[in-house]
Amino acid sequence: PLPPAFQVPLPIPRVLTPVDTAGGVDRYAITQRATTAEILPGVSTPLWTYEGTFPGPTIESRRGRPVTVTHRNLLPVPTVVHLHGGHTPADSDGYPTDLVIPESWGNSVHTGHDGHVMHDPRAVTSDLTRDYTFPMNQRPTLLWYHDHRMDFTAPAIWRGLAGMHIVRDDAEDALGLPAGPRELPLMIADRAFAADGSLDYPSIDRTLRTKPGVEDPYVAGVLGDVILVNGAPWPVCEVDAARYRLRILNASNARHYELEAVTEDGRRLDLVQIGADQGLLAAPITHATLPMAPAERHDLVVDFAGVPVGGLVRLVNRLGSGRTAEVMAFRVAREAADDSRVPDVLSTDLPEWNRSQAVRVRDLSFRAGRMGDGHGWLIDGRPFDPARTDVTVRLGDVEVWRLIADVHHPVHLHLVGFRVLSRGGGAPLPHDAGLKDTVSLRPGESAEIITRFDGYRGRFLFHCHNAEHEDMGMMANLEVV
Ligand code: C2O
Ligand code: CU
Repeated sequence: PLPPAFQVPLPIPRVLTPVDTAGGVDRYAITQRATTAEILPGVSTPLWTYEGTFPGPTIESRRGRPVTVTHRNLLPVPTVVHLHGGHTPADSDGYPTDLVIPESWGNSVHTGHDGHVMHDPRAVTSDLTRDYTFPMNQRPTLLWYHDHRMDFTAPAIWRGLAGMHIVRDDAEDALGLPAGPRELPLMIADRAFAADGSLDYPSIDRTLRTKPGVEDPYVAGVLGDVILVNGAPWPVCEVDAARYRLRILNASNARHYELEAVTEDGRRLDLVQIGADQGLLAAPITHATLPMAPAERHDLVVDFAGVPVGGLVRLVNRLGSGRTAEVMAFRVAREAADDSRVPDVLSTDLPEWNRSQAVRVRDLSFRAGRMGDGHGWLIDGRPFDPARTDVTVRLGDVEVWRLIADVHHPVHLHLVGFRVLSRGGGAPLPHDAGLKDTVSLRPGESAEIITRFDGYRGRFLFHCHNAEHEDMGMMANLEVV
């Protein structure tokens, strides 16, 4: 029962209210629970949610003002919360085995698929909630929080465990960018639905308790034929004939997009990029189309002035076909004054690391292989093992990493943002600009990234953000010492 495109109004996830703001800390409480929602007309879709909605509520933070989120788990499986792009100490970074135990497990012992004890009530000293603390000492940007449990991240995100988290600061507020109702957070995610409205996902174990991975035909990644934006299928948003700031997140498990904004008479609107994964660019970059891998964020300004009132602007995906070539649309509803601007200088605090600062160059390969008795995705020939340290870096060191891929792999580092130094031996592409936390490696391609491992010691991760690849081994431990 697919709805006609551009009929459902674009939902904007509600902004979560802190339960307490005393002592300079914003404290939030989130309950993870199952619910149902009418995503497609006339059918009800069971979901796993943060606070009852997909996407979860948006958290709005100020740079340097710490946030604590207390998570409570009413789902039937353990969960892990990771703030993607957060500059977060290890104990709040959502390591894949740092579980939020389901409340229903309160007084019984549970073991995981390999026999390890996941929950022993004798070891529980307090209640079953878990506090995540985020110092928020980082550049303002759009982050997102999502499930990160070992082996089962992809199906948990697919069922709805994803939400947005925006960090702001005074410098960015003072730029005069489109704001208020003219700033739209847009979480794009594709999903497949069964006839009864339930989400279709080809897990080997549908209980998400024992064996990880997906059925063989899907090992490259699970794609859906319905494109959701903020949880609604191909929605439409009424806009003024003015500039809008579109803060786009690709929260799809495996789908890549190449975004383009086109009017009814076939005219292409400029996508003026002002920011990347980790905040504002130094200066705006104008794109005709913009590729987007899973987990990447693009901060764009699009000007609807000049589109006739009543006109429709479609945000399309040039990599899709048929319905997956459409993402959403904007209906220009009225003429309106516009005092927003896009300054020529957006930020002056972008780190400019250079090769001569690097104490080390590492090569890391991202390739298909075997994991256990099935298909796997490997980093340097090995599947993820929480007991093994893969890469050790010294706090404060600058390193260059040379990443090489067999097929598409969007590679994500926890803890730090990085700059893309080169691609395929040549210059980076226009969309590699700015500070990134995910770099989209194309088939057969290598890319070099450079970063300084600043902030916190401890055990972090890097992995492919094709969520199926991640669950099937393509993740490694990064120890900062
Ligand atoms: Cu978006 Cu390791 O995560
Ligand atoms: Cu991958």
